[in-house]
Amino acid sequence: MDRTFVMVKPDGVARGLIGEVISRLEGKGLKLVAARFERLTEKKVLEQYREHIEKPFFPSLRHFIESGPCFLMVWEGRDAVRVVRRMVGATNPGDAEPGTIRGDLAMDTGRNVIHASDSPASAEREIAIHFNPGEIVTYKRADESALYE
Ligand code: RTP
Ligand code: MG
Repeated sequence: MDRTFVMVKPDGVARGLIGEVISRLEGKGLKLVAARFERLTEKKVLEQYREHIEKPFFPSLRHFIESGPCFLMVWEGRDAVRVVRRMVGATNPGDAEPGTIRGDLAMDTGRNVIHASDSPASAEREIAIHFNPGEIVTYKRADESALYE
C-alpha cells in the first residue's frame, strides 16, 4: 500500500470542508492513518512548498497558508498518490473537472481548498515534514477484503 500527504488548507478549514474532504476519501476506500490540526510555521511552509520558493505566486501562497490552521492527514491505499491527485483535480479550480474536490468546491487557484502530494517521492518527503513515524497508526478497515481483489 502507498501513502500520501493531504492537507485541507486554511480556506477549506474556514469553509467547513474538512468533513467533506474526509468523506470523499473514505468513501473511495482510502484509509486515514494520521491527522492533526496545525497552523504551519514559516519553516514548514518553506519545506512543504520548496519547489515554488522562487515563483512569483510564492509570497501570497506562503501568506495564505500561514493565515490559519490547516488540517494535515496521511492517507493509505493502493496507488494512493495518483488516486488522490485525480480526486483533487486541477490546480486552477476553473479547469478542474466536475466530480473532483476542486471542481466541485472551489473557484480560485489561490483558494483551492486542498493540497495533495504529486509523486510517491514527494509524499514520503512531505509526510516526514509533518508527522513522526509514531503518529501514523496501523489498523484494519472492516471492508478491506471487499475493497481489493
Ligand atoms: P498543491 O501543491 O497545493 O497540492 O497544488 P498543486 O500541486 O495542484 O499546484 P502547485 O503547482 O504545486 O502549486 C501549489 C499551490 O500554489 C498556488 N498557486 N498559485 N497564482 C498561481 O499561478 C498559482 N499557482 C499555484 C496554489 O494554491 C497551488 O495549489
Ligand atoms: Mg503541488
